[in-house]
Amino acid sequence: MLNPVKVGILGLGTVGGGTVHVLQRNAQEIARRAGRGIVVTHACAKELNQTHPYRTDDIVLTEQLSDVINHQAVDIIVELLGGTTIALDMTLQAIANGKHVVTANKALIAKHGNEIFAAAQEKGVMVAFEAAVGGGIPIIKAIREGLAANEIGYVAGIINGTSNFILSEMREKGSEFADVLVEAQRLGYAEKDPTFDIEGVDAAHKLTIIASIAFGIPLQFNQVYMEGITHISPEDVQYAEELGYRIKHLGITKRTDKGIELRVHPTFVPNKRLIANVEGVMNAVLVESDALGQSLYYGAGAGALPTGSAIVADLVDITRTLTTDPGNRVPHLAFQANALSDIPIVPIEEIESSYYLRMSAIDKLGVLAHVTQILSNNGISIEAIIQKEPINGAEHVSIVMLTHQVVEKQINKAIQAIENLDGIAGLVTRIRLEMK
Ligand code: HSE
Repeated sequence: MLNPVKVGILGLGTVGGGTVHVLQRNAQEIARRAGRGIVVTHACAKELNQTHPYRTDDIVLTEQLSDVINHQAVDIIVELLGGTTIALDMTLQAIANGKHVVTANKALIAKHGNEIFAAAQEKGVMVAFEAAVGGGIPIIKAIREGLAANEIGYVAGIINGTSNFILSEMREKGSEFADVLVEAQRLGYAEKDPTFDIEGVDAAHKLTIIASIAFGIPLQFNQVYMEGITHISPEDVQYAEELGYRIKHLGITKRTDKGIELRVHPTFVPNKRLIANVEGVMNAVLVESDALGQSLYYGAGAGALPTGSAIVADLVDITRTLTTDPGNRVPHLAFQANALSDIPIVPIEEIESSYYLRMSAIDKLGVLAHVTQILSNNGISIEAIIQKEPINGAEHVSIVMLTHQVVEKQINKAIQAIENLDGIAGLVTRIRLEMK
């Protein structure tokens, strides 16, 4: 057997530790698959001390990133720094040094992937990013290679475990968003600053990557429509249940006559669908392609070992193809770099969807008639409607509706007119529906 491939890790936190653990625990199986061993020889970590858990004779530990990326013995760099500043510099420098890179950094790939892949192609090295989407689920490989025969039309995924955990808990316990967020932070599912997870940014990073490899388009993070889950109330969760739906935070990308849709937002999904039953921190991605039809990929979207599993799979892939002519490797974005297409991204106002609407109305004659008149004037047909008796003589009642499909700018126009009615208090809650 050839000498082992040498890996240098930048960042020895949860995921870095998981990667070392998987490589060591399954060393023999990995070598049987890769054709040679894969060993971590160098690692950069913060605040090293004599009792650091990875202080072994086999791994050279350092606090200097340059000690790893410039070491001539290291073949592959695993970038686990997070963020997009130092991580970008280090990745580009590693590429310039002729090293292959494996990263779990979805923000880095979503925002700077075009530049990174161009540099890698120029240098004839690989940049692999399976762990950037769906944690341990091999979704990049499934779309990029497993579905290579297909024209892909649609991908929808639960790609942020924190949001899914919060929505699951809100449904099971009838809790408020803010209370579940605190619980998620206590359990370590949500960060101290949870913005990226709960505002949809993390899901948008991942969706950017999925759309590129599904449709062969450049990475376009700044074109993703982004909505998080902070405005979802227990009332909406309850109405969803009553209407036969569940609220899921989905990343959706779709090929339509108008172009490619790229959007992340809370979504009503019929409760019989498999994806509606993905609970807690788990992730799932549904792909619709012309030859296979629907396929669903489910698994752990985060965690030391699941993410380590994806990183090590990339290490095995790179190891196997080290001697391959770069032109014959799987292209970074699934399609040959010179065959990427510039299909336009559809502005969110132009998408077509059905909608859930909830509004608070004064309980008096004619309010509902005005609301339905506005919808009708905008060509919006109502599919279902709920209005209950006022509770304990309350002045306001909730009116809830599901609409048929309509172009989003029409529903926005109608919502504005409804909010201007004297009989309507506050804003109208609007959540998109997805029927697949
Ligand atoms: N913060 C992410 C999530 C996990 O909640 O799914 C890493 O991508």
